[in-house]
Amino acid sequence: MSPGRAHAPRRPWRGRRVVLGVTGGIAAYKTVQVARDLTALGAQLDVVLTQGATRFVAPLSYEGVTGRSSLTDMFSTRGAALHIRVARDADTVLVAPATADFVARAAQGRANDLLTTILLATRAPVIVAPAMNDRMFDHPQTRANLQHLEEVLGYRVAGPGSGPLAYGEGEGPGRMLEPDELVEHVGRALESPDLEGRRVLITAGPTREPLDPVRYLGNRSSGRMGQALARAAWRRGGEVSLVSGPSQLDAPPGVEWVAVETALEMVEAVRERAERADLVIYAAAVADYRPAAPHDEKVKRSRSGPRFQVELEANPDVSQEVRPLLGAGTVTVGFALETDALREGAGRKLEEKGFDLIVANDARAPGAGFEVDTNRVLILHAGGGEEELPLLSKDQVAEEILERALKVAARRW
Ligand code: CTP
Repeated sequence: MSPGRAHAPRRPWRGRRVVLGVTGGIAAYKTVQVARDLTALGAQLDVVLTQGATRFVAPLSYEGVTGRSSLTDMFSTRGAALHIRVARDADTVLVAPATADFVARAAQGRANDLLTTILLATRAPVIVAPAMNDRMFDHPQTRANLQHLEEVLGYRVAGPGSGPLAYGEGEGPGRMLEPDELVEHVGRALESPDLEGRRVLITAGPTREPLDPVRYLGNRSSGRMGQALARAAWRRGGEVSLVSGPSQLDAPPGVEWVAVETALEMVEAVRERAERADLVIYAAAVADYRPAAPHDEKVKRSRSGPRFQVELEANPDVSQEVRPLLGAGTVTVGFALETDALREGAGRKLEEKGFDLIVANDARAPGAGFEVDTNRVLILHAGGGEEELPLLSKDQVAEEILERALKVAARRW
């Protein structure tokens, strides 16, 4: 195996059954990707297309990525009561895109095609991802229908997002969520909700400490580990806040994204949320020092000469600033990034900072550290004990960390 490759593909939803209902909107083409991603994560898909959907995308496209026949016809010869079987076997149903017409029919409890009959027959969680012209979305009737789906039928309405809509009309809201966001919504419906009702607070990314209005001191952290943790915690039902330094990554769906720049801003954002947090994970690579006196104007080389000295001042430790605010039951997880004496450094931080767990990694080990999608970590427990995990994707590492945090929580919550 090459050093950069993850240990094993993540197939957490192996054997879980998902109905993907596709209705007739232009965003339908994006759902081939959703079908592909869900299949790659192990789910077994039943793709159900309305007649309208088949005008936009061919059933064969889904068959190509799922390896299973797509379903379009309520009156098929493929066995009686197809809709009942598909509905009964489903672990979750995602309708994407959900057109205004579909939303209206679902709200009325109509059963005039295969997809709506499945909806009436299933007891699985249903996620509806509206996609339509912004004026249609804004119509009081559409709004009332969606409210009915959510409040009376208990469906989860995912989106719509804002952004350019088809035909160059309007900027939304009305745009279907992106495929990766829809996959996360399916994950939240499929995974065990062991963080339901729990507040999870995660720090992530680097911090930027200004030297002058255009320059800063920073580090190479991408924020990926923190983002993977936030996504995983949300999928498990948590109410998640991600306090992140500057990052190229998108905000994970459902997660409160709190953008900060400096360590001092991170302290404030975490302080505001610390008291109510049940689980706090400090995954940020906080700059230990900041320029003591940042310049108000851009520093000019012509005026600074061949040497330029910067005096640095220590930043507060985020985890220690908020420590007194945490409740007795709050579980805390720290990270330790080291370039030498990994176990000793991490063990010392675990003890000094009072974490329940610390996740240590060697910044220079192949496949670990900054700017890669994988990580190889050593987890130390406050009560003693350590575990060395193999090279895993950051998504897998996030799952492993949450599993262990939940074990600590089981003794406290
Ligand atoms: N941490 C923090 N605030 C800081 C520095 C670190 O909250 N100002 C947190 C990190 O998010 C991490 C843990 O403390 O969870 C350890 O961070 P690390 O940078 O490895 O250690 P330092 O305390 O900075 O120690 P050293 O520089 O000696 O390695």
